[in-house]
Amino acid sequence: MTSTEPASPRVLAEWHNRVQAEYRSAAITAQVLQWSIRFGLPRPLLDSAGRIVADELDHASLSHACLVALGGPDQPVDLDQAELSPRVAAEGPLASLVDTVLSAFCFGETFAVPLFSAMRASTTHPAARPVLDRVLRDEAAHRAFGWEALDALLDLDPEGVRARVGAALPAVIAAFGRAYGEAQDGPPLLPDERAAGLLDAAAYRRIFQDTLHGDILPRLARRGIPWAADRCYDPPA
Ligand SMILES: [Fe+2]
Ligand SMILES: [Fe+2]
Repeated sequence: MTSTEPASPRVLAEWHNRVQAEYRSAAITAQVLQWSIRFGLPRPLLDSAGRIVADELDHASLSHACLVALGGPDQPVDLDQAELSPRVAAEGPLASLVDTVLSAFCFGETFAVPLFSAMRASTTHPAARPVLDRVLRDEAAHRAFGWEALDALLDLDPEGVRARVGAALPAVIAAFGRAYGEAQDGPPLLPDERAAGLLDAAAYRRIFQDTLHGDILPRLARRGIPWAADRCYDPPA
């Protein structure tokens, strides 16, 4: 594939999904910012959340430009309105903020760093490479925001937040396990598809395990939220 030939359907599908995911991240972070203002989180965290909203909107428009450059339709990507708000917990907005920081940032953004790093490693297409350069540059700061926000929430209510996170962990781990840990092998990726930023299922599965056990669970344990080794997530055989 040269830069003037249309990409394969699965390359176009992947970049279509990325536009949706980046736009959704912007919307979710805007709600996190609103809740964070409401509960008086430290000003530097509020400023970071505001920058992340702008970053994610940039990622969405850059990903859309890449989709079009790869041969996708030059029209807005459809969005599911229901996906653009975090789940609101019955226990109230503070619980909703804890849940969303845990899932979208401590998990989502922490997985994003090695995933985008692995994608970028083999991406050479001129439409895709600059997008992954920019996204990867931003994701480390997004990950840092998540863990700093969790620390601020632990300062607010140490026992309550620890209990909430501990109770939420099985479902959050299972959800990311379904998304990454159980990624199903398809036909092998072609070199052009790797060059356009696609990652094979084995890489998703490996990065899921490495990041969960080597990064996320140790960070939680250091915050007094242990996860017993015998409960570690393993994908179904
Ligand atoms: Fe992003
Ligand atoms: Fe992000």
